[in-house]
Amino acid sequence: MKLLVTGGAGYVGSVCAAHLLGAGHEVVVLDDLSTGHRDAVPTGATFVEGELGAAAGDVLAGGRFDGVLHFAARSLVGESVEKPERYWDGNVVASFRLLEAIREHAVPRLVFSSTAATYGEPDQVPIAETAATRPTNPYGASKLAIDHMMTSYANAHGLAATSLRYFNVAGAHLGDGHRLGERHAVETHLIPLVLQVAAGTRESISIFGDDWPTPDGTCVRDYIHVDDLADAHLLALEHATAGRHDIYNLGSGHGFSVLEVVETCRRVTGHPIPAVVAPRRAGDPAVLVAAGDRAAEQLGWKPSRTEIERIVSDAWEFTRHR
Ligand code: UFG
Repeated sequence: MKLLVTGGAGYVGSVCAAHLLGAGHEVVVLDDLSTGHRDAVPTGATFVEGELGAAAGDVLAGGRFDGVLHFAARSLVGESVEKPERYWDGNVVASFRLLEAIREHAVPRLVFSSTAATYGEPDQVPIAETAATRPTNPYGASKLAIDHMMTSYANAHGLAATSLRYFNVAGAHLGDGHRLGERHAVETHLIPLVLQVAAGTRESISIFGDDWPTPDGTCVRDYIHVDDLADAHLLALEHATAGRHDIYNLGSGHGFSVLEVVETCRRVTGHPIPAVVAPRRAGDPAVLVAAGDRAAEQLGWKPSRTEIERIVSDAWEFTRHR
């Protein structure tokens, strides 16, 4: 297939682009490099530097595309609370322009990076796709708004639409000559922050609260290897059906606490990694774990890199040899 990958210079987008190329697809990456890196665009992809809302139409006009994988987004929860306008514009308005370009150029498929943040504080864990969507911040609300737009375009215009709701993406893609991992200018995610301590670029890790209603008092999250996540995108492309909007949670179904992650990083790196208990971070739910049955049953997706050691070792390999 000929595919447009928006945000293909970012962490998840670049890894998915590498998997798509590996599977024999033709890939055009569109990225404004506001948070992505030119050197993360995998070899073999055509790169177009441009802002999503403005450039998507021109790119799609340039050839018959079979699908779009849409990763380009602003994704800092804290920033979204302080500067919501960036999220309504950069996520919702830009995605609307993309959807309009998709309609105009009759692109049949769209696979979208949605998020567990669309659910907010869950009533029940593990979280199924049928759970109520009550995002607790503008980031999650902006992604949910895009999900709603996609449903309406599937119904009205026959788009084959898929939203993949990621839980905690981690690890790195190390195969096929590419080394692709997380390197955000503003890093907020637990595993890369802990590994910065091991690499000597940060003194200690703050543990945001040790009095949560969890077995060891720290928050529990469902960490999913970025290569497993990429596999799901390929399956989603294959299973996309005209006139339907399908939503799938992507997680491993296993939760690990912040302390378990820090302990794993100590084992993997051999570094003592000093940890300091800090106040809870606003908006953090205690436990987020995916019910992955729908993706397993309907897409045939089975994550295979679910060991936390494997996820951390791959992230560490990437951090050390960058
Ligand atoms: N944490 C710490 N110290 C840190 C950083 C994180 O204790 O320095 C904790 C957090 O409080 C949380 C866990 O580690 O309990 C994981 O935090 P991350 O920031 O790595 O990930 P989140 O669970 O907050 O975020 C993920 C996605 C978001 C998405 C969110 C849904 O990365 O995009 O889930 O709630 F919005």
